[in-house]
Amino acid sequence: MPTQDYLTVTVKETRSEAVGVRSLVLAAREGGALPAWTPGAHVDVVLSRDLVRQYSLSSACEERAAWRIAVLREPDGRGGSAYLHDRVAAGDTLLVSAPRNNFALDLDTSRLVFVAGGIGITPILPMLAAAERAGTDWQLLYLGRSAETMAFADELTRYGDRVRLHRDDVSGVADLAAELDGVGAAGAHVYACGPSGLLTAVQEYADARPHSCLTLERFVATPEAQRQVDDRPFTVETADGREIEVGAGQSIVDALTQAGVRTLTSCREGVCGTCETPVLEGTPDHRDQLLSEEERAAGDVMMICVSRCQGERLVLDV
Ligand code: FES
Repeated sequence: MPTQDYLTVTVKETRSEAVGVRSLVLAAREGGALPAWTPGAHVDVVLSRDLVRQYSLSSACEERAAWRIAVLREPDGRGGSAYLHDRVAAGDTLLVSAPRNNFALDLDTSRLVFVAGGIGITPILPMLAAAERAGTDWQLLYLGRSAETMAFADELTRYGDRVRLHRDDVSGVADLAAELDGVGAAGAHVYACGPSGLLTAVQEYADARPHSCLTLERFVATPEAQRQVDDRPFTVETADGREIEVGAGQSIVDALTQAGVRTLTSCREGVCGTCETPVLEGTPDHRDQLLSEEERAAGDVMMICVSRCQGERLVLDV
């Protein structure tokens, strides 16, 4: 099980923010302040025993009475977005995690450039407010198919020409390098969130400019990570001493589930952090895209949806 805490929140309000995008305002069921968070943070929303989804917090960090999340309907998804669009209404309760931040904003820089594609605008919104408050020089490039699909564009008008909108239906498919040059991305610290094709293009842009610094928020694993194979069987021992064999080609999550050990997962691709699990003994073979080099070297937590074992045996706090 993840080590984080969960709390019950009440849906105070829902709104249609764009075509296929619904926002939900969440407040503590018992009233009072919600846990503090920082720009870029997300919460896990537990939709059922086996269905957990991450949503970025898009409200203001200092607003402790309520959080706002926004959900893009994904017709080919596993049902999480459809559930939040069609079956959750104001007054309902949801189980959510405490906020976690895999996309933290570092304001200790002279210039920030934010790049958002579609629903990727959600973690960026509180970052803009923080950059504005700090007096940091910043610009946003927000790309979408059309005005109707671009949520929260109305909230951006107050920032004037710091915001550059690119609509495919008006300007055609973006020349991303030209757009990034246009917002001064070369040499800036760039924060990008959106579809994987966009993030790959931003990564290539930054790689070609040695003075650029890039931080990405991914929703899915890179193709390279998805291709990782070389799996050998190994043994996982649970905290209460049960031994469970993890087969070649089988994830730890699947092996534990098959053995009746409950785990929480969401992306199952090593990009969200929901399945982060403490390691009590053994050396993980980290295959996620979240942990830093230092965290990997420490080896005391791992993402059990994708990561494996460097030796024959792991003891996990599950
Ligand atoms: S379920 Fe997302 S990192 Fe494992």
